[in-house]
Amino acid sequence: MSIIYLNGSYLSDGEARVSVNDRGFLFGDGVYEVTPAYRGTLFQMEGHLGRLRDGLAALRIDFDPSGLPAMHAELLERNGLTDEEVAYVYVQVTRGAAPRTHAFPKVPVAPTVYAFASRYARPAPDVWARGFDAVTVPDRRWGRVDIKSIALLPNVLAQQAAVDAGVMDAIFVRDGVAIEGAHSNFFAVFDGVVVTHPHSNLILPGITRDVVIELARGAGIPVELRPIFVEDLARADELFFTGTTTEVRPCVRVDGRPVGDGAVGPVSRALFDAFLETVGEAARAPIGAGSPTP
Ligand SMILES: Cc1ncc(COP(=O)(O)O)c(C=O)c1O
Repeated sequence: MSIIYLNGSYLSDGEARVSVNDRGFLFGDGVYEVTPAYRGTLFQMEGHLGRLRDGLAALRIDFDPSGLPAMHAELLERNGLTDEEVAYVYVQVTRGAAPRTHAFPKVPVAPTVYAFASRYARPAPDVWARGFDAVTVPDRRWGRVDIKSIALLPNVLAQQAAVDAGVMDAIFVRDGVAIEGAHSNFFAVFDGVVVTHPHSNLILPGITRDVVIELARGAGIPVELRPIFVEDLARADELFFTGTTTEVRPCVRVDGRPVGDGAVGPVSRALFDAFLETVGEAARAPIGAGSPTP
């Protein structure tokens, strides 16, 4: 049994109740965030909050998220997750409960705010070192993928395609471009240059993506923000995914074809090591509720 947060209260998950009129339930009308915590310290909280604010503004949901860092810290505490190597807090904010009409409720209703905390099981080092397989799937998502909407049906179907194929990840492909993963951003390495899709309405602006780009640049590895064409995957030296519940995950086969020499490459390894170092430092920082709020 876990303790969840719902609309200002901490409850056991079994006793929490949400209205059948909730617009998240009826329309997928809401946004969410997933923030990692390393040994109880929230990582990149300000970035996650910023993206949540952007999503709320885009959907015109009236909610001030400035109290979320304290709530996140409280959830980790109440669920005994502050000593976990990696845990995460999921929060979603929907437009609230109102009789079903497509347009926003005429009389504004209070948003529904739900959060839970969980541990994250990082793959064992020997499993990570062997790398992971992925399959490509057509990207049939809407044109505002930059909003972290709770309406994730295409992502659900993409991840199920990966499960059906017995692999770890799915890569969304749109107009010949490998856009991103079903729940992660996607990177390629060509001749020592790290390449990933630029910010646009076609990708989620991943917080981990930004951290990894910064780490690469800090290590003197050139980074180019441009589309990765599927036809170029065959000549990529390395591929990897980034995300909150992915960290840095090397991809060594796509649709059954080996990437480079089929082994995890040095750039993926170096960036994962640098990432682990960074989150380790963040966890040692003496700030209880994580990085500062905006
Ligand atoms: C579609 C998609 N792209 C990218 C990401 C990675 O974003 P972040 O690094 O902020 O977790 C996610 C995370 O959930 C995602 O769902």
